[in-house]
Order: sequence, then C-alpha cells, then structure tokens
Amino acid sequence: MTDLSTTYLGLSLRSPLVVSSSSLTDSVEKLKSYEENGAGAVVLKSIFEEQIIKESEDFDATLGRGAQSSPEADSYFANIPMEIGPQEYVRLVESAKKSIHIPVFASINCVSAKSWTGYAKQLENAGADALELNLYYLPTDPLKTSADIEKNYIDIVQQVRSQVKIPIAVKLGPFLTAIPHTVAQIAKAGAQGVVLFNRFYQPNLDLDELKIVARLQLSRPEEVLLPMRWIAILNGRIDIDFAATTGIHDGISALKVILAGASVAQVASAIYKHKAPHLKVMLRDMETWLREKEYASVADIRGILSQKTCEDPEGFERAQYIKVLVGHG
Ligand SMILES: Cc1cc2nc3c(=O)[nH]c(=O)nc-3n(C[C@H](O)[C@H](O)[C@H](O)COP(=O)(O)O)c2cc1C
Repeated sequence: MTDLSTTYLGLSLRSPLVVSSSSLTDSVEKLKSYEENGAGAVVLKSIFEEQIIKESEDFDATLGRGAQSSPEADSYFANIPMEIGPQEYVRLVESAKKSIHIPVFASINCVSAKSWTGYAKQLENAGADALELNLYYLPTDPLKTSADIEKNYIDIVQQVRSQVKIPIAVKLGPFLTAIPHTVAQIAKAGAQGVVLFNRFYQPNLDLDELKIVARLQLSRPEEVLLPMRWIAILNGRIDIDFAATTGIHDGISALKVILAGASVAQVASAIYKHKAPHLKVMLRDMETWLREKEYASVADIRGILSQKTCEDPEGFERAQYIKVLVGHG
C-alpha cells in the first residue's frame, strides 16, 4: 500500500493535493466534494484586506470615528461584487470546520500591515488550521526600492504572527529580485510555509472599445516549470515548507513539484476544467508511478531532485543556462 500522506505547516495531511484558494472553495458543499475525492486540505477563497478595513471603517463610522482609506481608492473597489464579507467569511470557516475533517486554511489577500491584521485572530478563533497570506502587490511607484517592498512583506508577516498562533503560509508572486533572501526573511518573521507562485494577472487591451479588459485565464500545464525550479533551488536551504501552485494539472506534475521539494501541490485550474473527481485521478496516477518505481511513500521522494546536495547552486544554474543556449541548434 503506497503512503500518500505528507506533512505541511506542521499538520499531517492524508494526501499532498490541496485545493487552491479560489471560488472553488467558497462553499461547504464544494469543500465536501474535495474531501470525498481525496484532497489533503483546502485553502478557502481569499478575503481581501480592503473588505476587512471597509467593514471596520463602517463600524467606526457608526461610532463617529474617521475613515482610513482615500475616497479615490474607495471608488476603485465600489463596483466590485464581493459576495463574502468578513463576518460571512468567519462563518464559512466555522461551518467548514464542522463539515469536513481535512485541514481548512483561511486566506487573506493583503498589501499592507494595517489595522486589518487583528482580523486574523477571528479566523484563528473560528477554527482555521492555518492562514495563507496572499501577498499580491504590484509596485508602480518608481521611488520604492525592492528593500522597501520586501520590508513591507516582512512587516505583514510579523504583524499577523503577533496576532495568531496557528501556522502561516505566505503566497508570493515570482517577480522578486532576491527570492531566496525574501523567503528566508519570511521564515524568520514566523511563517511556516511559502506558496510559490501566485500568478501575475495581466489585463489585455480591447482595440475596438479602447478599454482595458481584465479577464482571468486558467493556467497552462507548462507553467509548472517556474514554481518547480524555484522550489528545487530553495529546498533544504531555508527552514520552511513549500507549497507549489500554478500549472499542476495532473498527477505527474504534482509528483514533479514534490521531487523538487514541495510538501504539497495546490490545484485550481485543473479542477475548474475537470471538476472535483479529477483529484482522484491525479492521486491514482501518483500512486501508480510510486508503485512502479518501488517507492513506498510520498515522503520517500520529497526533494530528491532538488538542489539540496549541490554545493554551488549559482554555478550549477549558470552552467545549465549556458548548456541550454549552446545546445539549441
Ligand atoms: C477564478 C480564480 C480565482 C482565484 N482566486 C484566488 C484567491 O481568492 N486567492 C488566491 O490566493 N488565489 C486565487 N487564485 C489563484 C489560485 O489559487 C492559484 O494560485 C492559481 O490559479 C494557479 O494555480 P493553477 O494553475 O492550479 O490554477 C484564483 C484563481 C482562479 C483561476
């Protein structure tokens, strides 16, 4: 019998497949279907920092206190339909915990270490097994340095760490100058995991209407190469768990990120396409591969193709790069 269990953020998971934060995880009915199909854990859809602050401002306004955000910024958010408000989100965590047995991670999409961080405590009290901080920040100010931006990330983690005892995972985008340094600082600030990588959403232009079109595209399987590569580089060098996200569409790509060093493989697009039973297909394919290669467990393969044993990873990477360019006829 092949053992598919894993540990992530100090928790035991029966399988390494985790359903990613998205509208796939916004109701208890959907969560039950992932549990039935073998998911190891679920990450709830993100609640946005702006929603949390807005709610506390509304609350403050009724008490006659001032608002935090600018009217212009408010207008950007006014027309976005946010179905789940902060208190409904707490109730979603509570009912998820009552209805399923696999770990439930709450997710907060945030850009600053503002007053919202106190809300993390409510999610912990509601029973969330861990918090995923989805740090989605796009710098547009030419005066901001990479050090400023990384400091902001670390401040957020420290602030949230000071509020909660449950494990924290930080979901990052790939466009950072010094990924290893940032991840090391995140670990030092008290996070137990990093989720690599958030996708960079890129709006298009509609030339007929002369307007910006924001449409979210599902990932393509080849996109897995980016998180796989960085997890392979970081595994064993920083004391933190890795979750891979983006491009994991089948059991083979889930195995690849685990071989690179990931503790779990997060899946969204493939479930949007093929629905919850696809998890079962992925797990079956993983089990078949492990059996054929005579591995008894997922734990046996985790990180065996990472750069852990490489003494000079920068030299190795440079050599690989040159080899690929020179080898291309
Ligand atoms: C429709 C949709 C909604 C998403 N919403 C969130 C979200 O609320 N929070 C978050 O951290 N990621 C969100 N994501 C990103 C996914 O969690 C995941 O990281 C990304 O889709 C890459 O994984 P995939 O290749 O398996 O789709 C969303 C993705 C999709 C497709």
